[in-house]
Amino acid sequence: PKTATRTPTGSVAVGGLDVKDLAEEFGTPLYVLDEADFRSRCRAWRDAFGEDADVFYAGKAFLSRAVVRWLTEEGLNLDVCSGGELSVALAAGMPPERIALHGNNKSSAEIEQAVQAGVGRIVLDSFQEIARVAHIADRLGRRQPVQIRVTVGVEAHTHEFIATAHEDQKFGLALAGDTYPRSAGGNPTQPGAPGGQAAEAVRRVLKLDSLELVGIHSHIGSQIFDTSGFEVAAHRVVGLLADIRDEHGVELPEIDLGGGLGIAYTPEDDPSEPHEIAVSLRKIVERECRGAGLSVPRLSVEPGRAVVGPSACTVYETGTVKELPGLRTYVSVDGGMSDNVRTALYDAEYSISLVSRSSDAEPMLSRVVGKHCESGDIVVRDAFLPADLSPGDLLAVPATGAYCRSMASNYNHALRPPVVAVRDGEARVIVRRETEEDLLRLDVG
Ligand code: LLP
Repeated sequence: PKTATRTPTGSVAVGGLDVKDLAEEFGTPLYVLDEADFRSRCRAWRDAFGEDADVFYAGKAFLSRAVVRWLTEEGLNLDVCSGGELSVALAAGMPPERIALHGNNKSSAEIEQAVQAGVGRIVLDSFQEIARVAHIADRLGRRQPVQIRVTVGVEAHTHEFIATAHEDQKFGLALAGDTYPRSAGGNPTQPGAPGGQAAEAVRRVLKLDSLELVGIHSHIGSQIFDTSGFEVAAHRVVGLLADIRDEHGVELPEIDLGGGLGIAYTPEDDPSEPHEIAVSLRKIVERECRGAGLSVPRLSVEPGRAVVGPSACTVYETGTVKELPGLRTYVSVDGGMSDNVRTALYDAEYSISLVSRSSDAEPMLSRVVGKHCESGDIVVRDAFLPADLSPGDLLAVPATGAYCRSMASNYNHALRPPVVAVRDGEARVIVRRETEEDLLRLDVG
């Protein structure tokens, strides 16, 4: 930070409970998830998009059986990207037709598990996968609904997006271009046929009886703050729908524009709201469809972070406080990169505050670090914490609901923290703390 802004101090309540009491009861580090907040965010997304659209929560942000039940009750669908996520979803009773399976390298076992369960869609990501899913569905006597994931040439980052003709990344099939690499099986099925790999994928899927092509999928990035990247993506996806209609005489009924809406990690962040995204996407899809003479397809989106991110905080206990005169003070907490790798991995920014007492002490420039054997193990790079901070004080980091527990690791044999859901003054463990026994159980040597 440029200025020495004091971070707030004093008690903080979540779901009617003081986090200090929660830390006492459940220990630290601790993820505290506000169920009512999560549910209200689900409803905000559903209401923004309405009945003629679908909201798929991206389970990669955070998934547990309780979360799946909340989603089911709030009318959201679910995007899973592994057999593990699919198992949790099915175990918690999410109707399979409301589940979409993603991934750039789904195993045959995962595809079989999904087809067998009857998932509502599998999002195809490569030429080889088209053949693999078709073969498995055929063997199981199913006609599997599928979407094709395309890369629209839009790469979105927090505050900007780049629209190019070509993308160099592992996901999806390119809309642009007219060359067919060997991995695609050489020449297009119709020699001289126009379009990129996406158009060729459409040709192949339409020829396969065991696949039902229901739509086109695009995901442009994550932690995006404005809607312009989504608008370019929508424009290009509708363009493909028009090409498909012209070439094959079919109008695909669905488009999915992926996830990626950002959240505020610090007070300076100013993300769009779900209804702003909904209004602008609808407007552009409707306009483009009208222009192309297409009927408007059913729209879906896949927010993860923007649903669960703001709903949880992490509570840590302060350990060693080490002052480096003239530089800063290193405040060590009892977790770190094993429960939140985002700062180390993406240079992500978080805020932090003292929650076990209030303090009028002068602000001191602090770096909040974890307990792992690695100097990049930083939780919050720069924070102004009160100068009287001492071992035993509790600190809370807000907005850790997304990609923290789900990306947690056992580095240094750390025990991954529990997730406690709070609602109306009651707390309930939904994911328990790991124990040394859990670690030793896996170690069978
Ligand atoms: N749909 C697809 C196909 C995705 O790949 C993703 C995220 C989402 C939806 C949800 O995106 P969200 O709304 O949560 O931004 N670990 C990174 C984020 C990786 C996102 C990967 N895909 C982080 O911690 O920032």
